[in-house]
Amino acid sequence: MFYYGVDYYPEHWPEERWEVDANLMELAGINVARLAEFAWVKLEPKEGYYDFSWLDKAIDILSKHGIKTVLGTPTASPPMWLVKKYPQILPRDKDGNMMGPGGRRHYCYNSPEYRELSERIVTAMAEHYKDNPNVIGWQIDNELGCHESNRCYCDNCLLKFRDWLKKKYGTIENLNNSWGTIFWSQTYTDWDEVIIPRRTVGAHNPSLLLDFLRFVSDSTIEYQNLQVEILRRICPDKFITHNFMGLFGGLDYYKLAETLDFVSWDNYPKFRGKPNPARIALSHDVMRGVNRNRPFWVMEEQSGAAGWEIFGSHPLPGEIRLWAYQSIAHGADGVVYFRWRTCRFGTEEYWHGILDHDGIPRRRYEEVKKMGEELKTLTEIKDSIYKAETAIIYSYDIRWAFEIQPNNPDFSYMDQLQKYYTGLFNQHVLVDIVHPLADLSKYKLVIAPSLYLMTQEIKENLERYVKSGGTLVVTLRSGVKDWNNVVTDKTLPGELAELLGIEIEEYLSMFPDETYHIKGVGPERFNFKAICESLKSKSAEVLAFYEDGPFAGKPAVTINKFGGGEAIYVGADVDLNYIESLLFWLITRSRVNVIAMGSRDVEVTVRENSNGTFIFLLNHSDKSETIRLLIPGMIEEITLEPKDVKIIKR
Ligand code: GAL
Repeated sequence: MFYYGVDYYPEHWPEERWEVDANLMELAGINVARLAEFAWVKLEPKEGYYDFSWLDKAIDILSKHGIKTVLGTPTASPPMWLVKKYPQILPRDKDGNMMGPGGRRHYCYNSPEYRELSERIVTAMAEHYKDNPNVIGWQIDNELGCHESNRCYCDNCLLKFRDWLKKKYGTIENLNNSWGTIFWSQTYTDWDEVIIPRRTVGAHNPSLLLDFLRFVSDSTIEYQNLQVEILRRICPDKFITHNFMGLFGGLDYYKLAETLDFVSWDNYPKFRGKPNPARIALSHDVMRGVNRNRPFWVMEEQSGAAGWEIFGSHPLPGEIRLWAYQSIAHGADGVVYFRWRTCRFGTEEYWHGILDHDGIPRRRYEEVKKMGEELKTLTEIKDSIYKAETAIIYSYDIRWAFEIQPNNPDFSYMDQLQKYYTGLFNQHVLVDIVHPLADLSKYKLVIAPSLYLMTQEIKENLERYVKSGGTLVVTLRSGVKDWNNVVTDKTLPGELAELLGIEIEEYLSMFPDETYHIKGVGPERFNFKAICESLKSKSAEVLAFYEDGPFAGKPAVTINKFGGGEAIYVGADVDLNYIESLLFWLITRSRVNVIAMGSRDVEVTVRENSNGTFIFLLNHSDKSETIRLLIPGMIEEITLEPKDVKIIKR
């Protein structure tokens, strides 16, 4: 069954309205609703006193209209009675100040009291709903780590951080050596001297900072898994998911996904600024990637103008449907809209849903309904797999290392990732996002943006791939540090020198207004900014030279034969134009299938299962656009109306 749903908050509306809502949902083809993820105070109004009657009733009314329920565990918003009785659960900021209640997520993930209180409410809910056939699954908490809420600096986190380090390093000497604490006399003589990075004079040791972020991530995952364990035990027949946040970097999503049945995520294309189709596509692909390339859900799909204090623009006609289909096109097997009806009170009064405050169905409802009708004929898409021949390597550890030391104010790891992704997206090439240790053998082309931290295993994984015929692109600031965030004593690119066949003679950070050029074989010159590296070829051939700037005349981009494959190195933060032309050349060279040609505003993706091959065409433009499909047996030109979607089955 393909799930098509809404996030519904019956606790925000009078009971008499529930039946009206459920009926309207049914008419729109809705078959699932997510409920209760912020309703703790209504489920446990007093400590140890539970009231599920209202929720039972809401689930029951929905079920009579053919709508199943996904229940959120309500731990993202600890109620006021709880905070009053257990103020020690509140998180502390970098200055050690307590963060008060008033918003949401005001808890320390490591608090033993909060963990116990969470276990109690989750157990009570699980026991109550384990035999309810209308509850099909669970969502743990809500957006773990959101608002940087997992970065807590309380004493309890300090003690747990020390334990975490003890497990990792064994001895204090090993920690000292791994972090280089001799610098500024930071050497620890005992574990009880080890700090967490509260606000200090100057800046902390980068190795400590990286381990702290890993600890924060592990603590969050441990907190989630306490709930997973309870739900698995009591409700083995129901699925467990959590709503991730796309490109959010506050925890290691690969690890967070490990214990879940599948990943779901919250997709808001028009949140800050105009929607960027390539960015939304990348977010979907990251989510599918952390979900080990299996189908995922969108648990919150935008259906109205986003906003808290100020509000943005409503989705234009066709956009709700377009974004929902884009989710499916990238591998979603469930799409749930946030939210059914715009709330009249509270922080999110201006975060609009399908219905407005007055509850009257209008244009946005009609669009959701239209799609609901279409989906009834598309059930066979479920469980189909996204077919990509290229991959981009994405690492949370590396992202954190760059967060700690961006190297240059205008340089960004995520920007590198986005630019190379866009280079492929614009040329209608499908991409998987993968972990640095993923099996790369099925890909014809792999891009590894700025592999700043390096391990022996990653090096071997990349070498194995290229040796057996793969094409690999590695970009600047790679191989610079070890996994402890300490700079290598080898000549850069460190461990990757042999694979890439180069040495980096010098690297340089540029001022914000500085832009220079590189030039390849053709007449065109391309911009680069922020950081550049002067390369010296050992065994590699030069693909582009610096035309001007501090390294004029030196190699900037190289290609090296290694075993049966080739490794390309890009030593500067080059612009998208260069990336596109380099990738165009490599796509052809490594025989990657380009699935379409023509308008760049039309996105094309492919999903496959035993029912067939499904080709999605999505026109992101507000003009009609034409595209030429290049799929074997399907070489044809197709025109799409503004914001329209077509799905072709073969
Ligand atoms: C999501 C969150 C929802 C709601 C929405 C709008 O990030 O999960 O609970 O807050 O944003 O702000």
